[in-house]
Amino acid sequence: MSSGQGDLGGLPHGDARSFFNAVASFYDRVYAIEGLPHRERMRALLRVLGPASEALVLGVGTGRELPTLLDAGFSTTGIDCSEEMLAMCARRARHGVLVRGDFWQPLPFHDATFGAAIALHGTMAHPPSMHAFEALALELTRVIRLGGVFVLELPTLAWFTRWAGQPDEGPGVLLVEGDYAAFVDRRSGAAIRGLVVSPERWVQSLARGFDCTMHLVSDDEVRVVARRTESP
Ligand SMILES: C[S@@+](CC[C@H](N)C(=O)[O-])C[C@H]1O[C@@H](n2cnc3c(N)ncnc32)[C@H](O)[C@@H]1O
Repeated sequence: MSSGQGDLGGLPHGDARSFFNAVASFYDRVYAIEGLPHRERMRALLRVLGPASEALVLGVGTGRELPTLLDAGFSTTGIDCSEEMLAMCARRARHGVLVRGDFWQPLPFHDATFGAAIALHGTMAHPPSMHAFEALALELTRVIRLGGVFVLELPTLAWFTRWAGQPDEGPGVLLVEGDYAAFVDRRSGAAIRGLVVSPERWVQSLARGFDCTMHLVSDDEVRVVARRTESP
């Protein structure tokens, strides 16, 4: 994999904010994980998060993870770059604190604010560059207390390969060119650009402040559980 933004060739260049603003009104219907798989993933999440604390939800979107966290006694702060996704989230009866912001930039929170942080369902798939991982890992080291946990889910390389090979399936078209991927939503025509990143790359970025384990959730997805430890 290359280390910078490089040439995106013929791939569409959409950013996360404009893509998720365009799909927000039908995100829950078309893109969200529903039913049993959602409930199973939330149960697994609670198991690894442990006792309730203050949870930071990166890419909170329409707030699909919030009821589980709030019911389990967590207080939540959700951050998202899309005002339309946040507007959908704010319609929930309980939605905790919501902040509009870009989590690839310095996080707008004090040191050691959180006992937990999560980034689920492809949220981390659209970094501005490979270097963004190190910067976010440092920020998470700052805002998550010692002993806290960060859980992220990442698509596997197998997922990229399979979806790129099925242009007529699903809600949009996935294009892959080297390290870069672009997804074009069929309904709105909105595009989002991403990087094809291995979970190992993430684990490497987190290694200075976290002990990480990787779990294959399915052929499509890996869960990384990162426990905050003393930085070396
Ligand atoms: C695939 S959705 C997942 C939403 C929710 N976590 C779920 O599982 O349904 C990804 C969310 O991350 C947000 N997002 C993507 N990149 C972001 C960034 N750089 N800063 C803040 N939010 C971002 C998007 O706006 C979107 O709401």
